[in-house]
Amino acid sequence: MARLEKASEPSLDLDVWEGDEPPPPDVLHARVRGVDGIVCLLTDAIDEALLAAAGDTLRVVSQMAVGVDNIDLAACAARGVAVGHTPGVLSESTADLTLALMLATCRRVVEAAEDVRAGRWRSWSPLGWAGVDLYGATVGIVGLGRIGQAVARRLAGFNVTLLYSSRRALTKIGTLAVERVPLDELFERADIVSLHVPLTDETRGLVGEAALARMKRTAILINTARGEIVDQAALLAALDKGHIAAAGLDVTTPEPLPADHPLLARRDVVVLPHIGSASRRTRQRMADIAVDNLLAGLRGAPMQSPPPPATPEQG
Ligand code: DGY
Repeated sequence: MARLEKASEPSLDLDVWEGDEPPPPDVLHARVRGVDGIVCLLTDAIDEALLAAAGDTLRVVSQMAVGVDNIDLAACAARGVAVGHTPGVLSESTADLTLALMLATCRRVVEAAEDVRAGRWRSWSPLGWAGVDLYGATVGIVGLGRIGQAVARRLAGFNVTLLYSSRRALTKIGTLAVERVPLDELFERADIVSLHVPLTDETRGLVGEAALARMKRTAILINTARGEIVDQAALLAALDKGHIAAAGLDVTTPEPLPADHPLLARRDVVVLPHIGSASRRTRQRMADIAVDNLLAGLRGAPMQSPPPPATPEQG
C-alpha cells in the first residue's frame, strides 16, 4: 500500500478494499468501473463479467499469487488486458509447508497434539500414535515445476525414492536421483503423492476415484496446489473405505471449508487454511512483485506474466 501511495511514475488514485473477507462480486464490479489497473488476490474472480464492469480503461490485472486459475486469461487477452503474477518467490515457502504436511500426516502430529491438549495422553505406549516414516519412503510428485523441484530438494535429506510425473525430463534434482513415470504408475508405487500442478481444465479432478483406487492402502495424499485438483467426494470415500491412509490438504473446495464438513471431522486428515506461501518474508515479496507488475503494466513495460493457459507445472 505504502509503495502504491508513493508511486510517482505513474502516480495513482487508489481505491483499496479494507475488508477481511473478499469483496462480494457486485461490490467489486461497482468499484472497478473505469479503473486502469487492478491488484487482486486468488479469491477474486477476474472473469468476463468483471472485465465488462471495469470497461475499456482497464489495462492491467496484477495478481498477488502465482496461480491464476481465478483469472480468465483468454478473456483478458481478448480485451488487451495484461496479466501479472508472482512466480518463483513462493516456491521455497510452499515446499516447506508441503514437508510440514508430509511429516504431520506420516507421524500423526496433529492428532497426537490434540490428544495431549485434551488430556487423552495417559502413558507412553509401544504403538501410541505410531505412524509411518517419511525417511526412506517412495514419494510421487505430480508436477515438477519450481515448487515440485523445491520439495524434491528437501526430500533428498529423507533418503526417499522419488518418482515424478511431468512434461519435464530430469534424472537428478540436486543430489537426488529422480525417476519419471506415467501418472498411473506414480499413484500405484508412491507411499506419498504430492500435487504441484496448477489448476487447469486438464488437472481439475485429476485425483478422482480411479487415481485413488490405484493408490496403496497405506498411502498419503498431500495437496498444496489447488483444491479442485482433488475430487473431494472421492477422497472421502477412499478414506472411508480404507483405500488410502491419510491426507494433508492446504487447499480445499470451497475455501474455507464449512466447519461441519466431513473432512474436518476426520483424524486421518490435516486441513490447513491455504498457508503454503504464508511466511512474512514471502508474502512481502509477493506484494512487492504485485506492485512492480502493476506499475510496469501501467507504463506499458514488461511484467512477470503467467504462461498461457494449460501450463504443465506450478510455481
Ligand atoms: C499461489 O500463489 O498461487 C498460492 O496458492 C498462494 O499461496
